[in-house]
Amino acid sequence: MQIHSAITPLRKLLKSVRQEGKSIGLVPTMGNLHAGHMELIKQAKSKTDFLVCSIFVNPLQFGVNEDLGSYPRTLAEDSQKLELENCDCLFAPSVDEIYGATLEAHTLVQVPELTENFCGRSRPGHFDGVATVVLKLFNIVQPDIAFFGLKDYQQFLLIQKFTEDLSLDIELVGVETQREPSGLALSSRNNYLNDEQRQSAAFLYRTLRDSAEQINSGHLDFPALEKAAQLALQAHGLKPDYFSICNARTLRPATAEDRQLVILAAAFIGPTRLIDNIRWQRSD
Ligand code: PAJ
Repeated sequence: MQIHSAITPLRKLLKSVRQEGKSIGLVPTMGNLHAGHMELIKQAKSKTDFLVCSIFVNPLQFGVNEDLGSYPRTLAEDSQKLELENCDCLFAPSVDEIYGATLEAHTLVQVPELTENFCGRSRPGHFDGVATVVLKLFNIVQPDIAFFGLKDYQQFLLIQKFTEDLSLDIELVGVETQREPSGLALSSRNNYLNDEQRQSAAFLYRTLRDSAEQINSGHLDFPALEKAAQLALQAHGLKPDYFSICNARTLRPATAEDRQLVILAAAFIGPTRLIDNIRWQRSD
């Protein structure tokens, strides 16, 4: 596996890969790779000829009081994991390489509407930071296909929207959420949890599943379901940030007519904020 931290030699490498007629896949990450990330790597490896994984803890997407400083950085282990999956290239740039001196006054990609609520509301500026860095990575790597996890469903939708709005010629693949046996979605932030908190955390997905089952069995008073779910989360030691039943395409509040639904949830366990969602097509 080739490892690059600078853009110019990476571009040179990718130019020759393209000249050989090979397709290029990209899996953007912030590192501390777990089985969720590795599922993206496996799918990307099977669908493209040359796979680039990027590892970059993007300061632009962290709020001032968030965990930028303590976010786990495990480049040596990550690199070994990628090597084992036959990833072709690791791109691990420094903040300077990506933003130079312009971090404070950088051009931003702002995606309207989809980013207004949920994580966009709780983490002001977060999605501008995500969209900006993902567009930069797209421009640096120019992949044919890029792979993202559906665990970050709002993130996936906004990447889809700017890819379409800005006429990028990149296919996006959304990969199903990988979970622990308890149902807890794998996340680098699970590292912050102790054993007891980990057990409470699993209740987030259980509550999502319970609510989906209730909708499937005809309970269509969505605000009442949302309220009940928030109370259930609180009873299990979680502090809900939001728990919202939405139209899966627009993320607007779901109506009884909507068939494609998503329930988006975020909750704190102590200082740790976890997100998860459940998506399905109503069959009732
Ligand atoms: P990060 O949290 O490292 O996640 C990288 C990719 O892995 C994202 O597409 C995310 O949705 C996916 N992922 C994380 N946990 C997963 C799980 N349990 N199952 C399946 N996929 C999972 O998301 C980011 O980084 C950043 O915002 C990024 C897109 C790299 C931009 O900085």
